[in-house]
Amino acid sequence: MSIRYDQEKKLLTLETRSSTYQMQVDRYGFLHHLYYGRQVDGANMAYLNSSYDRGFSGNPYDVKFDRTFSLDTLPQEYTSFGVGDFRINGLSVVNGDGSYGADFRYIGHKILPGKYAIPDMPAVYDNGGEAETLEVSLMDPVTRLMVKLRYGVFEDKDIITRCAEIVNWGQENVRLEKVASLCLDMPFGKWDLVHFHGRHCMERQVERTPLIHSIQTIASKRGMTSHHHNSFVILCDHETTEDSGDCYGLMLMYSGNHKTEIEVDQLENTRVVMGIHDAQFLWTLPPGESFHTPEVLLTYSPSGFTQLSHNYHTIIRHNVCRGKYKMARRPILLNNWEATYFNFTLDKLLHIAEQAAELGVEMFVMDDGWFGRRDSDNSGLGDWYVNEAKLPGGLAPLIEKVNALGLKFGLWIEPEMVNEDSDLYRAHPDWAFSLPNRHPMMGRNQLVLDLSRQDVRDYLYECIARLLRENRIEYIKWDMNRSLSDVYSRQLPRERQGEVSHRYVLGVYELMDRLTTDFPDVLFEGCAGGGGRFDPAILYYSPQIWCSDDTDPIERIKIQYGTSFGYPVSTMGAHVSASPNHQTGRTTPLKTRGVVAMSGTFGYELDPNKLSDEEKEEVRRQIAAFKKYYWLIQDGLYYRLTKPQDDGFYSAWQFVAQDGSESLINMVVSSPQPNSALVHVRLKGLDPDGVYIDEGQEQRRYRGSALMYGGYTFPVLHGDYPSMQIHLVRVGEAVKD
Ligand code: GLA
Repeated sequence: MSIRYDQEKKLLTLETRSSTYQMQVDRYGFLHHLYYGRQVDGANMAYLNSSYDRGFSGNPYDVKFDRTFSLDTLPQEYTSFGVGDFRINGLSVVNGDGSYGADFRYIGHKILPGKYAIPDMPAVYDNGGEAETLEVSLMDPVTRLMVKLRYGVFEDKDIITRCAEIVNWGQENVRLEKVASLCLDMPFGKWDLVHFHGRHCMERQVERTPLIHSIQTIASKRGMTSHHHNSFVILCDHETTEDSGDCYGLMLMYSGNHKTEIEVDQLENTRVVMGIHDAQFLWTLPPGESFHTPEVLLTYSPSGFTQLSHNYHTIIRHNVCRGKYKMARRPILLNNWEATYFNFTLDKLLHIAEQAAELGVEMFVMDDGWFGRRDSDNSGLGDWYVNEAKLPGGLAPLIEKVNALGLKFGLWIEPEMVNEDSDLYRAHPDWAFSLPNRHPMMGRNQLVLDLSRQDVRDYLYECIARLLRENRIEYIKWDMNRSLSDVYSRQLPRERQGEVSHRYVLGVYELMDRLTTDFPDVLFEGCAGGGGRFDPAILYYSPQIWCSDDTDPIERIKIQYGTSFGYPVSTMGAHVSASPNHQTGRTTPLKTRGVVAMSGTFGYELDPNKLSDEEKEEVRRQIAAFKKYYWLIQDGLYYRLTKPQDDGFYSAWQFVAQDGSESLINMVVSSPQPNSALVHVRLKGLDPDGVYIDEGQEQRRYRGSALMYGGYTFPVLHGDYPSMQIHLVRVGEAVKD
């Protein structure tokens, strides 16, 4: 039983392998947060709550003579603005009479088998018997506004999910100005914040700063998760490292505007509030209706970031990603984008596909430029029918020939967008977001379709479904190439315009849901100008996401490193591209590009006809190596061995089979130096008593413990950004005296 209720003490305890989460109902009905941290084996943590009279921290009316009791200092599970908790709050509500605030008191709870689902939204799922749900109901006795706090407990996987449902049991409409998924009080402790910032072509860069007495915000108002601030943060001790120390992960399963606030309050307590951004959010909730927030995936590790990442890797791989390709080996693809951009013909594509097939590639993906009048990124979006000038006879001749080469065929689409210069826009200008009587902001010269509208979604569904019905398309890259602005729906009344951003996201989910349900054999890859929508919600619909538009391997090391804190390698789209690299102009060896792309879904994004014979041999070697290491890479445990931003001249990372039987160590000299020091890394995760050989150097044998505590020394490598992979195989156990 991972959830327990102590009736006498009114204690609710959630237990996972390494953590305990506890809350308590008091005699007034307030729900106190007591503890989230290392397993305490069911101990009652109520003693942690001590309260003193604090100036300017008032007291609820019913406790008025107890000046020590204040919502402003009490650790709580969920809080509302306006009734005496002056810290950041989870909820801001305007009641029917115009007043602000809700006074939530406990009215009951349920413990249910399995993991709750969230209507119309992606959520972590239970594979059968591995999760339990706690649902705690709090109600405002006057307005009868209810909040149901839901907790999904995955005991073995060390994950707790949280979300909230607001139900209006009153007689009047209420307006929700802010509804967070979670409020997490962390009394005591001084924490560092780790977050993942960036920009287009430079996503998820790791930054770690100590919290100060302030309200710090990690957020996106771009209508998307964003390249700029991923909706994932870690709070950790100042001393926490990869292998030791307390850390907490909070990851929002949502793809629109998001906001994580972290406040260190007057008494040095930390509070985190995470959920949909309240900017341009105003939701009218009529009597009898509910509002559901997206959920947060929480994890706690007592032993550093590596364990925290492993917890996320496991839950995302097994309980977020779905469908045929969740566990199946994904095809090694070649995408024509960086090979041709918009400039291609049928013959040119076939020439590429022929050479790709010859080298061992398994799927050919035609990227942007195949539809409408799409000869540049200024026109055509919205017209999802073939550009016959480029592809006479439609998709069929291309797909048939590609299939005849033994390759699967994949296609790029960007369904959420429209160009002004398109038949779709000319027919339905009102389908694109714009503010009344104004010109909208252009982004890549395109506009965003109003996916809050059913008619728009139905139209898009039909376009894409027709393509998939009529053609043998086995992969779809679903792109999204601008931030949302001018968000205004012509189908909603003025007082409901604050709902459009969220309804847009729900619309995207509905469309993705219909297509992935109706075409279960298609492999979907998410994309938003690279990794602008890299989040667990998109991974619910597509098991992989194009990680970044930057394919330079040296930059990619940093991007994939940051991404790895929350997301498994099996989700990171990574390709070998041409050199010099198109984004940075840097020249790197093909081998190094292969080593980096192999720590992802692996594929190519270049014209293979331009490779020398020697390079073609290298590609064949890479493909053979990727196939050989596939399960070790995708299912193995991932270890970061260096911090690319400050560990000097090389980067290293490692995969270890879950049973310790083999390991792949990857090392790239990311900043070559003359007369350099030796590259020496302490390996991780090996069987300490196992005897390993380094494949290719079988005469040397190493004890697992020796490699982990003494380390492994690489030979000195010379040249521009050289790299090396070491494959260790366990050949026996050490004989002990
Ligand atoms: C985005 C994607 C790229 C490519 C282009 C096509 O930038 O991230 O991979 O598909 O669009 O326009």
